[in-house]
Amino acid sequence: MSESSAVLTRKSFRLRDATPADVPAIHAIYSHHVQHGRASFEEVAPTLDDMHLRLAEVRKKGLPYIVAERDDEILGYAYASAYRARSAYRFAIEDSIYIDHRHTGEGLGRALLADLIARCETGPWRQMVAVVALTSTGEGAGSVAVHERLGFRTVGRLESVGFKHGQWIDTLLMQRPLGAGNETIPS
Ligand SMILES: CC(C)(COP(=O)(O)OP(=O)(O)OC[C@H]1O[C@@H](n2cnc3c(N)ncnc32)[C@H](O)[C@@H]1OP(=O)(O)O)[C@@H](O)C(=O)NCCC(=O)NCCS
Repeated sequence: MSESSAVLTRKSFRLRDATPADVPAIHAIYSHHVQHGRASFEEVAPTLDDMHLRLAEVRKKGLPYIVAERDDEILGYAYASAYRARSAYRFAIEDSIYIDHRHTGEGLGRALLADLIARCETGPWRQMVAVVALTSTGEGAGSVAVHERLGFRTVGRLESVGFKHGQWIDTLLMQRPLGAGNETIPS
């Protein structure tokens, strides 16, 4: 691919809020990663109904759930969810991004995460956390790269907390402030 066509490809998608009509495509993208990858610690793909409930749960909390679309095809998605359920965690959220495995490396993950951060910065949240699965064979490097590009720093690593498809999995904890972060007290 020539440089100009690569640039064209990178630009030829749009980001928008996910709707229930997108859920079958989102489900297909995620199910592939559950079944064939180690980024998700789920080992059995959720049902379509589960995915509808998950979208509704994100929406109910006023958090963003966005898709990247080209020519009516959903290429990837990202959303934010509560980092932990207990109330003192209420200013901390976690991001999730999944790109159709046929379209990774096209700039979609970076664009989705940048948009997700921008949207979250308009809300009350002050920290965004990423829990990135890493294996000894290098799985997870893409996710680390995307998060680093968008200002996340590594703050910890849990070793061998996951085991999937015959391999131990570490989780890298990454985070970045949103808006004023911890420099001011939330109202
Ligand atoms: C990880 C993932 C979200 C990244 O999205 P992507 O669209 O493939 O990544 P992009 O094309 O936007 O790349 C963004 C940057 O990361 C870099 N990058 C991407 N994959 C990389 C890899 N495997 N190793 C090193 N750098 C990588 C790119 O070079 C690019 O850098 P640049 O912006 O400076 O050019 C995507 O590959 C994916 O869905 N993977 C499987 C599921 C997953 O791991 N989700 C994350 C859960 S936290």
